[in-house]
Amino acid sequence: MTNIFAEATKGAPPYYLVKKAYAYIDKIDDNARVLDLGAGSLRNSLFFAKKGFSILAIDKDKNIHNYRKEVGDSADRIETVQEDICKFLQNNHEQFSVILATHVIPFLSENCRETFFKTLSSLLVDGGVLVLTFWGPRDDFSRKGVAVEEMEKLLEKLQSFKILFAKEREYDGPTVDGWEKHWHVIDIVASNRKDD
Ligand SMILES: C[S@@+](CC[C@H](N)C(=O)[O-])C[C@H]1O[C@@H](n2cnc3c(N)ncnc32)[C@H](O)[C@@H]1O
Repeated sequence: MTNIFAEATKGAPPYYLVKKAYAYIDKIDDNARVLDLGAGSLRNSLFFAKKGFSILAIDKDKNIHNYRKEVGDSADRIETVQEDICKFLQNNHEQFSVILATHVIPFLSENCRETFFKTLSSLLVDGGVLVLTFWGPRDDFSRKGVAVEEMEKLLEKLQSFKILFAKEREYDGPTVDGWEKHWHVIDIVASNRKDD
């Protein structure tokens, strides 16, 4: 099946939150590794690769390897793995300086979402940064079986992290495949940094 979102965002700039989060990670050295969960077209991976980071990009879509071939020289810094996120979370022992999970967690099963929140701390090095997006209860995706989360409950789930940025946005607009819907987007940047 065609990954419509990945095709539509091929060559697109990173999600705005990714650039915003970069401002918070100046303390991490250039060899830091970024984990991009549900990496799609690699638009967000590419942003960090161009900044000199090395990336582990996971997506269940086998085209992830093709998207890598299309990013030019930065491909050297991006390792792509075609794998289900749930399986990856169960077997992974590596820690990362940045974890990107934009527009993907709500698509996972309830069990997998639980595993995600349980394993988040152990996935992140000290001083690491999380970049997360979710959909809120008023998002029309709630009528399509996509998981929605209330900001308050999300912040409870992330209570062991320091919240650096949290924003809810609501607007009407189309999906990449043309469905005019109501959007209720929740964007979060958080860190396990303890010093400030
Ligand atoms: C809406 S796209 C977001 C892509 C990217 N994070 C971005 O913001 O551009 C969701 C991506 O997550 C991937 N995905 C969904 N469920 C997954 C799963 N269980 N395991 C791995 N990848 C998954 C899809 O294949 C798709 O590429």
